[in-house]
Amino acid sequence: MPIIFDSEKKIFKLDTLNSSYIFKIYRENYLVHLYYGAKIPDYNLTDFEKRNMYASFSPSNCNMTDCDFSADTYPFEIGCNGAGDMRISALQIRGSSGCAATDVRYVSHKIYSGKRALEGLPALYANTDDECTTLEVETLDKVTGAKVTLIYTVFEKLSAMTRSLVIENTSDKSFEIERALSFSLDLPTKDFELYTLYGRHNKERVVEKRPLAHGLQGIHSKRGSSSHQHNPFMALLKLDGGEEHGDAYGFNLVYSCNFTSQVEVDYNCSSRVTMGINPDDFGWTLAPSEKFYTPEAVLVYSDEGLGGMSRTFHKLYNTNLVRGPWKNKKRPLLINNWEGTYFDFTDDKLFDIAKWAKSVGIEMLVMDDGWFGVRNCDNCSLGDWYVNENKLKGGLSKLIERIKGLGLKFGIWYEPEMISPDSDLYRAHPDWCIHVEGRERSIGRQQYVLDMTRADVRDNIFNQMSEVFANNDIDYIKWDFNRNISEAGSAILPPEKQKEFFHRYILGTYELMDRFVKAFPHLLFENCSGGGGRYDPGMMYFSPQIWCSDNTDALERLDIQFGSSLCYPASVQGAHVSASRRTSYETKRNVAMWGSFGYELDPAKLDDETNEIVKQQVADYHKYYDLIHYGELYRLISPHNDPYKCAWEFVSEDKTQAMLTVVFRHYIEKGNFFIKLRGLCADKYYKCEETEQIYSGALLMKAGLNLNDYDDYDGESYALHFSEVK
Ligand code: GLA
Repeated sequence: MPIIFDSEKKIFKLDTLNSSYIFKIYRENYLVHLYYGAKIPDYNLTDFEKRNMYASFSPSNCNMTDCDFSADTYPFEIGCNGAGDMRISALQIRGSSGCAATDVRYVSHKIYSGKRALEGLPALYANTDDECTTLEVETLDKVTGAKVTLIYTVFEKLSAMTRSLVIENTSDKSFEIERALSFSLDLPTKDFELYTLYGRHNKERVVEKRPLAHGLQGIHSKRGSSSHQHNPFMALLKLDGGEEHGDAYGFNLVYSCNFTSQVEVDYNCSSRVTMGINPDDFGWTLAPSEKFYTPEAVLVYSDEGLGGMSRTFHKLYNTNLVRGPWKNKKRPLLINNWEGTYFDFTDDKLFDIAKWAKSVGIEMLVMDDGWFGVRNCDNCSLGDWYVNENKLKGGLSKLIERIKGLGLKFGIWYEPEMISPDSDLYRAHPDWCIHVEGRERSIGRQQYVLDMTRADVRDNIFNQMSEVFANNDIDYIKWDFNRNISEAGSAILPPEKQKEFFHRYILGTYELMDRFVKAFPHLLFENCSGGGGRYDPGMMYFSPQIWCSDNTDALERLDIQFGSSLCYPASVQGAHVSASRRTSYETKRNVAMWGSFGYELDPAKLDDETNEIVKQQVADYHKYYDLIHYGELYRLISPHNDPYKCAWEFVSEDKTQAMLTVVFRHYIEKGNFFIKLRGLCADKYYKCEETEQIYSGALLMKAGLNLNDYDDYDGESYALHFSEVK
């Protein structure tokens, strides 16, 4: 059994493929954490809960003065506020007395096969009940009456588990939830480097690392989205670890709104990791018998460094997060008109792009922003989801008929959560946008955000959009979100519930997305938020692709794609070849091939030679689709370690195929360049398609390849493919 409970020793042991997670019920029904790391067969972790007690005046439990116990020092399964534990807490409930001391203790538990859904929230799922096992531990804060259930699910064939909380009010008075993070984890050391992904528009998810230090460190978002600035992901790599060796722990929140992720190192050098809804500007009133569900956090352990951690996330998300018919179906190779035309297009212009697309083998045309209302630039019409017949003569159906006549699929752009002040919708419903009565409404990209906490607003948008989908043969939707939320307030929430606004906003958005996924299951969703501003697993639950970044410069994309790959698989990463400034089409292709590949340019500007190159790239896309979408990624040279060149490799799961890509960002006279491949089968022999040389897997991994003769000037790149020969 992957989860066992020793009723005599009161120990829980949760095993995955390569990890064990162990905790116990201790004396006065505290849940104390004992171990999380490489898989071990037994659990005789004698005294593992004990810590140095005398920090300063650490308080003790009055029933336990016979031992060195203090809530301030012991490792807990869930850190609570104000009952002796002075570290950062995951749980803070202000009871009807007005006090916020919180203290939950073990009551009961159950273990079962499979995994239950989280009400209203995206979450990982089990394809079959034997794929994972769940432990629910019920705890109670006897003063406030908060019943807090700690939910753990282990994915047995991967080294991954999920954690979340359900809080229920069992008292007869309301209480206030002030902090409800998804988990806390107390590790016994601070000997880690902390990895996070920071950025901004056009430069998302850049890897940053720093050694843990005493005190608090971490990231957060208060923008109403997971954000370009910090991704809800964090990793801890043991100081003696690296890309392919050593203990690595990855944490990722399945949530698309304000989050926090922090580590506190205490005076004992223990590290408390936390992750969940950002408590800043959050609160939730829970009436008697109501329940509150936190988002789910994903925890991955690897003893193969960051690389092993990433490969586990990739497999997990491809198998247990992305859903629907497009999960395993080959995604159409698309051309998007945005960078080619921006707002300046007509039906004929789109048809010309489609004709070219057909001639080179592209499978879908995506019509981007500017097709609706009277929109010719970004200052109007969001919310008016009817076609602009001045641009598209004869309407949408006519255009789609022409595109489909060529044998292409058709996709369309929407920004469903937004409203322009210059729109019919705003003129009719000025109170439908997020605002605080009496305050100026800050404007972002000339638009406001619709109040998704309101069912009437969601219904209006659903009805407008579904009418378009019901009457037109549409295959794909790009769902955009192009500003952050300010003056957070809703016209319909009572004052005491305005603190719930942000969480209610994202629950409303998820509800709307879910309605579309269910009503139009054939649609392929590609999420977007000014590129990758909502590149998170919450969105991946609804859309199997996310536009990675508005920055399509191949060399700039390297930082973004390497960073994204720490947690997210290539299959979700929208990556396009564009006409952008630098590099050859070969380099653009080599970089964009690491994802759900497509084009974003004006084909009228391409010469015959480039058209021939594109045809070859299209053929390569089909040839290597499975290898890239379902293969295992090895980051051989990462930009956060080498500013001059990058290299990565995909290896098929059966180890019969591999693809090595090398990109030189800046020329530098650096001496020899040998590279060792990874992940191959040592005993197999592989033929390099480009050079026709045959090598053993052992040779490629131990001796490597001498790449000194390849061009290494700024922006040069090459891809080498290896196939098993018998
Ligand atoms: C965002 C997206 C772009 C494009 C524009 C349209 O910035 O990231 O790809 O769709 O909106 O306005």
